[in-house]
Amino acid sequence: MDFVGQHILSVDQFERIDIERLFDVADEMEPYARRTRITRVLEGAILSSMFFEPSTRTRISFGCAFNLLGGEVRETTEVKALSLAKGESLHDTARVLSGYSDIIVMRHPRAGSVSEFAQASRVPVINGGDGPNEHPSQALLDLYTIRKEMHEQGRGIDELRIALVGDLKYGRAVHSLCKVLGLFRSITFQLVSPPGLELADDLADVLRARGHRVNVIHDMEAGISHVDIVYVTRTQEERFPSPEAARRYRGLFRLNQAVYTEHCEPNTVIMHPMPRDSRRQARELDEDLDANPNLAIFRQTDNGVLLRMALFAMVLDVADRVHVGAQAVHWYTARRTPR
Ligand code: NCD
Repeated sequence: MDFVGQHILSVDQFERIDIERLFDVADEMEPYARRTRITRVLEGAILSSMFFEPSTRTRISFGCAFNLLGGEVRETTEVKALSLAKGESLHDTARVLSGYSDIIVMRHPRAGSVSEFAQASRVPVINGGDGPNEHPSQALLDLYTIRKEMHEQGRGIDELRIALVGDLKYGRAVHSLCKVLGLFRSITFQLVSPPGLELADDLADVLRARGHRVNVIHDMEAGISHVDIVYVTRTQEERFPSPEAARRYRGLFRLNQAVYTEHCEPNTVIMHPMPRDSRRQARELDEDLDANPNLAIFRQTDNGVLLRMALFAMVLDVADRVHVGAQAVHWYTARRTPR
């Protein structure tokens, strides 16, 4: 795939080789993300960041990634602040905004909305999450993290054993992650959800057809033993038909240090796209795991900046020029070590 000028809407766009190229560029971003060097390769470029659903990591890390490449960010976080609230269509909004910016990142609560928007845009659009459908940049940063974590253990991604735990029905990060992992070889997917929140059958069938092992499991403790990665997700309460329907699932699956010690292998890596639901009744990923060196959630968030910088650099065709004219940083910078 040629990244230049492309919309990034779904992980279905990628082959394994494209992902490997993207990861090589992400590795190159390390000194800039760690503030040991600065580059101005996107000086003059404008990102329109449009997030119509709550977001901390995705929105801010996309913005920082663009800033770290030297570009400017225009941010809108509420539909009511835009003419969409006056009945303007996504089409017209896209046509207009693409006249003001070089690239757009968008999150929207409806599946398919970001693609619809992209069709009317004259500049590349990156999907920051479209309802329960997809979240491509999250899946890519998760896979990038998995690659690094497995590398530490002297392994690659092929033959990975991963437990995906929680709301596999509405969780878009999981949907995209399953698809990208499907590009690798002989993956074991433990699909661990409460009854009613299983991964869609068609997606599980695609993985089986590609030769992966896919097990549907309703017992968390059974599902998380004998895996390299346990990837926990939040119940996506905002996507349920009613608050009562969502509440029935609150707190059903909880991973904490005691459960981990009893059921996981000693070096099982713990991941979560975040936010974790820290309310007392929920707590799918307990804070008592924060001292566990295998907890990779903050390495995931750090990697998100590298990966998003790489996406911008490739789509805007500056990946080869990032280091040209780069300078040392002359202000105080805290040490940012990966662990
Ligand atoms: C995820 C999302 O928005 O889909 N969050 C994120 O972008 N890191 C997962 C979630 O909200 O639970």
